[in-house]
Parts: sequence; structure tokens; C-alpha cells
Amino acid sequence: MRLDRLLCLQPMWNRRTSLTLLAQGKVRVDGLTEYDGNTDVSLFRRVEVDDQLIQPGQQALYMMLNKPVGILSATSDLVHKTVMELLPEDLASQLHIAGRLDRASSGLMLLTNDGQWSRRMTDPELKKPKTYLVTTGNPIDSDTARLFAEGIHFPYENITTSPAELEQLNSHQARLTIYEGRYHQIKRMFGRFRNPVVGLHRESMGEIRLDNGMAEGDYRELLKGEIEG
Ligand code: URA
Repeated sequence: MRLDRLLCLQPMWNRRTSLTLLAQGKVRVDGLTEYDGNTDVSLFRRVEVDDQLIQPGQQALYMMLNKPVGILSATSDLVHKTVMELLPEDLASQLHIAGRLDRASSGLMLLTNDGQWSRRMTDPELKKPKTYLVTTGNPIDSDTARLFAEGIHFPYENITTSPAELEQLNSHQARLTIYEGRYHQIKRMFGRFRNPVVGLHRESMGEIRLDNGMAEGDYRELLKGEIEG
């Protein structure tokens, strides 16, 4: 939200008084005087007017986790253990998942309390690459790479997947890069060849690669460059 809009939303000020407060240098964002009403003040920024706290600000958190097979990517579940149970409770209670993985899949999961950032990471329109190591039950058909590159039509949603890149590693394994995250997307893409996916491991999302040094179930904060990438 813009700073001037946040100020106008306060019951004690209208648009004119809000602009006056800004012009008089009475508004501080994250401790610094701010004159520009166009400034974006996400939930994570602390806004004060004349030392009166308008928006408390919150520390932005960005984590990566190496999800093991069998763990559910959900906040809570009555039956299965969830990724949130791999984190300390006070941390988990603040976070949401940016891009789910099936229970049988493993690898990179991103967790944050920044809704704008997670929307950017997962918005299919932004076409961020996601790379997976795929293991299949049957040998990979020689037409697979070509048809994935052309896009696979999903009749239920009536969409065609964005061109995906398949690098075959051996008869039953490939590295696949897709640009959306549709429901069971990779299983359904291989389903077109009646080839069951028996192993699926996410290696990267956008510029963020799963840290090789992380064991299954480990998590760590993202580095500045990873968050911005
Ligand atoms: N595609 C799938 O089918 N499953 C996943 O977990 C991720 C992508």
C-alpha cells in the first residue's frame, strides 16, 4: 500500500492533513523521515507519525527447507506430519508455504511471512522456472522432450502448459524445468505417456537452488541475494 493511502485510512486524518504531515516531515518509515506519499509501505515496514505508531512493522522471514518424502506441505493435518512440524512452533506459526509439493515429492520448499513475495514466486503469469529431478516407472519415451517443449494440453482446466525443458539423464531419469505449478503438473505431463512418476525432487525455484549441504528436513534462512533474485 502507498504511504499516503495508509495515512488517509487512519480515522483522525483526511487526505489534506495526511499530505501536510508528510510535507512537515512528521512521518517516519523504518525510523527515517519520509516525505514521499508514493512510498510503498508493505506490512513489514514500521510507520510512525509524531512518534505515534501507525503500523508496527514485522520482521520479514524467508526460509528454504529440504522437504523429505512423506511429509505434507500444509500448515496442519490430522493424519500426516506437515512441513511446519519440522520447524520450531514460534517460527512455523508465522510462515506460509510459497509453492507446494506433493506428499510423495521431496526437495526445495520456500516458506515466508511475506505474501507479496510468495505471490511473485508462484504466479504462473511470471513464468519462474522450477527444476525437478524426475524418476519414472517406465523408460522415458523418445517423444517426451519434444511434446513437453510444445506444451501439454490439460483438458480439465483447458490450458496448455508452457514450453518445458526436459534433459534426459538415463532411461528412467530426467531433469525437467517447468514454468508454472499446476496441480500435480509433472505427474499429469508424464501421464500423457502413461508413464508413472515414481520419484520427484525439486532442485530450484527461480534463482533459488536447494542448498546441497542441507540434509532432509533441514531448513535455513534465505540469503539476501536469494530473496531478491
Ligand atoms: N508436479 C507434481 O506432479 N508434483 C509436485 O509435487 C510438483 C510438481
